[in-house]
Amino acid sequence: MFLKIHLYLVLLKLTLYSAGYYEMALEECIYSSSDYSDMVLITGWYFNKYLYTQFNSTVGEFVGFTEYGVRNAEFWNKNTALLQQARAEVDRFCKHNAQVSDPAVRDKTVKPDIKVSSVKESDGKHPAVLMCSAYNFYPQQIKVTWLKNNVPVTSDVTSTEEMADGDWYYQIHSHLEYTPKSGEKISCMVEHASSTKPMIVDWESSLPESERNKIVIGASALVLGTIIAAAGLIYYKKKSAGRILVPH
Ligand SMILES: *[C@@H]1O[C@H](CO)[C@@H](O)[C@H](O)[C@H]1NC(C)=O
Repeated sequence: MFLKIHLYLVLLKLTLYSAGYYEMALEECIYSSSDYSDMVLITGWYFNKYLYTQFNSTVGEFVGFTEYGVRNAEFWNKNTALLQQARAEVDRFCKHNAQVSDPAVRDKTVKPDIKVSSVKESDGKHPAVLMCSAYNFYPQQIKVTWLKNNVPVTSDVTSTEEMADGDWYYQIHSHLEYTPKSGEKISCMVEHASSTKPMIVDWESSLPESERNKIVIGASALVLGTIIAAAGLIYYKKKSAGRILVPH
C-alpha cells in the first residue's frame, strides 16, 4: 500500500508573486481512535501566514475568513463536483493513509531506558532527593511511580511532563524527597505500552555510581595484574627448569 496524494493540489493557484510572498495549503488529518471514527480533515489555504479559506470535513463546506477568502469559498462551494470530491477526501486520503502509516509509526512501541540516581544527598537536616528518569521511549503515554518496600508512594513526589526529544522519542523525570531509613527498599516503577508488565528498577543506595565504577575498575586491574604476574612466574619457572635439563 502506498500513501495517496491529496487532490487539492489541483486547487493551488498558478499566480506569480513577486519575491517575499508565500502561498500555501496545509492538510491535517486529525484522529485519535484506532477505528478512525473520529477522523477529521482540515485543509487550510494561507497567504503568507493568514488563513483565508478552510475546508473542515465536519462542516462539509469551504469557509472564508477574509474578503477574498469568502469569495473564494463561495466560488468553490458552487462547484458541486469539487465539493463532493472534497467531502470524500476524509475517507480516500485521511483514512487510507492512516491505515498505511499507523502500523509503521503509531502502533510501534519502544521501551524506556530507566535510571534511578541521587540528585541530592541527605545532610541530616534535609531529605535526600532521588530522581527516576525514563529515556527514549515511544509513545508518549507513561506512568512513573515510586515504591517504598513495594508500596506506592504519593507524597513528596514531583514529576516533569513527558518531554519530546524531537526525534519521536520522549523522556520524563520524577523526583522523590526521601529520608533514608536502613532496610527500606526504594524502587521506581514504570508502566508503558512497550511492556505488558511494569518495569521496576531498585535504588542502590550503598554507593554512588561513580564510586562503584572506581571499585569495579580497581578490582579488574587487580585481577588482570595477578594473571599477568602468575603467567610471568610460570614462564620464568619453565625457563629456569629447561636450563637445568640442558646437558653440559
Ligand atoms: C471542525 O468543525 C467542527 C464542527 O463545527 C468543530 O467542532 C471543530 O473544532 C472544527 N475543527 C477545526 C480544526 O477548526
